[in-house]
Amino acid sequence: METITKKEIKPIFTSEMINKRLDELAKILNEEYKDKEIYAICVLKGSVMFTVDLIKKLTMPIKLEFIRLSSYGSGTKSSGKVNAVDIKLPDLNGKNVIVLEDIIDTGHTAQFLSEFINHNFKVASYKFISLLDKKCRREVDINPDMYAFEIDDKFLVGYGLDLDGNFRNLDYVGYIET
Ligand code: IMP
Ligand code: MG
Repeated sequence: METITKKEIKPIFTSEMINKRLDELAKILNEEYKDKEIYAICVLKGSVMFTVDLIKKLTMPIKLEFIRLSSYGSGTKSSGKVNAVDIKLPDLNGKNVIVLEDIIDTGHTAQFLSEFINHNFKVASYKFISLLDKKCRREVDINPDMYAFEIDDKFLVGYGLDLDGNFRNLDYVGYIET
């Protein structure tokens, strides 16, 4: 694939739009959990921006955990195979767990993670929260409990999302024509 430059990325969700949606999601979560402790699980690397920005808006006690999964490899098409690069988690029995993911595409990653957690722990509650939902690409029957934005079949970068490791640092989400 030829090299893509920043000029070819078309902004779709600006940092103002993201911030406003995260306020709305945080309000719902703050009301729902009140003072209950939650374990927030950030799925690296793509969810790093979403996670830090969202948890700063949350008011309950939070334990932050990181796991690392990969599915895309290189390029812009999902392999459908989930690679658990690092999935060490503390004892989540009896805990309120929220998973924070950058995007649900085919759904294989979300399904893998939900099965992994529910197979290994009896959690008190579980929510899968995704910044983006690419519903039209779903291959398995799974949906996020909450998401910030739905998008059609575009390849997105920025605000954590990458193309071959690039563009994660943009403060907006944009798309690249493929
Ligand atoms: P799924 O397993 O196909 O749902 O893919 C989930 C993972 O693929 C996400 O966590 C992302 O890391 C990656 N991914 C899916 N769509 C995109 C995209 O448009 N841009 C960048 N990464 C993506
Ligand atoms: Mg990801």
